[in-house]
Amino acid sequence: MQETINKAKALVKQQLGEDTSGHDYYHVARVVKLALEIARKEGVADLDMVELLAWLHDLADVKLVDDAIAAKHTMDEWLKHELTPNDATLISSCLSEIGFKGGQMNATHVFSKIVNDADKLDAMGAVGIARCFAFGAYKQQAMYAPTIKPQSFETEEAYRQLKSTSYNHISEKLLKLKDYLYTTTAKELAKSRHDFLMQFVAQFEEEVGV
Ligand code: ADP
Ligand code: NI
Repeated sequence: MQETINKAKALVKQQLGEDTSGHDYYHVARVVKLALEIARKEGVADLDMVELLAWLHDLADVKLVDDAIAAKHTMDEWLKHELTPNDATLISSCLSEIGFKGGQMNATHVFSKIVNDADKLDAMGAVGIARCFAFGAYKQQAMYAPTIKPQSFETEEAYRQLKSTSYNHISEKLLKLKDYLYTTTAKELAKSRHDFLMQFVAQFEEEVGV
């Protein structure tokens, strides 16, 4: 398994090494670290599977690749080559359970719950704010515009099509993330990150004079 994990890590370096959308190698490495911390505290035994899932979680993401179906196919072939049939199927189905997807909670397996939680923690706090503005620049969306008000969304489709600002994204999504966590360990780790988001918003509003 360690060899497969090393190969996954190399794939992330190769595919996301140059990323400027906030989904770079270091994001994935932080998610791995957080996922392992959560898994240990939650008493999950199969840390290797959690680690592998975390390394792979952004490789076939719809918002990062041109052809998500092809990327998923490549991923499934790779998994079949590296793992036992059972493990390959498990990781593949866990991968499809990862992502905010406009707020729809669909993780059923403990591995996907943990990696989802780790991914969401990395979208909160100081790092979350940095990633939010990086993603906004990547999407060529305005940083801040008082004429554009924060909007709500019900579906993944509506979330992906939202034309908003990076600043609005903090209230549209980041401040809600604490309510989308699965594990008690992640809820605990989220507290200071959530407080920091609120502190940032307060300071920002003071500076722009809302
Ligand atoms: P996931 O990968 O969990 O499906 P997203 O694609 O929604 O989640 O978000 C991944 C990262 O990109 C997060 O850090 C998130 O805050 C940021 N992000 C997503 N959409 C926007 C946006 N419209 N403006 C700014 N940041 C965004
Ligand atoms: Ni991620």
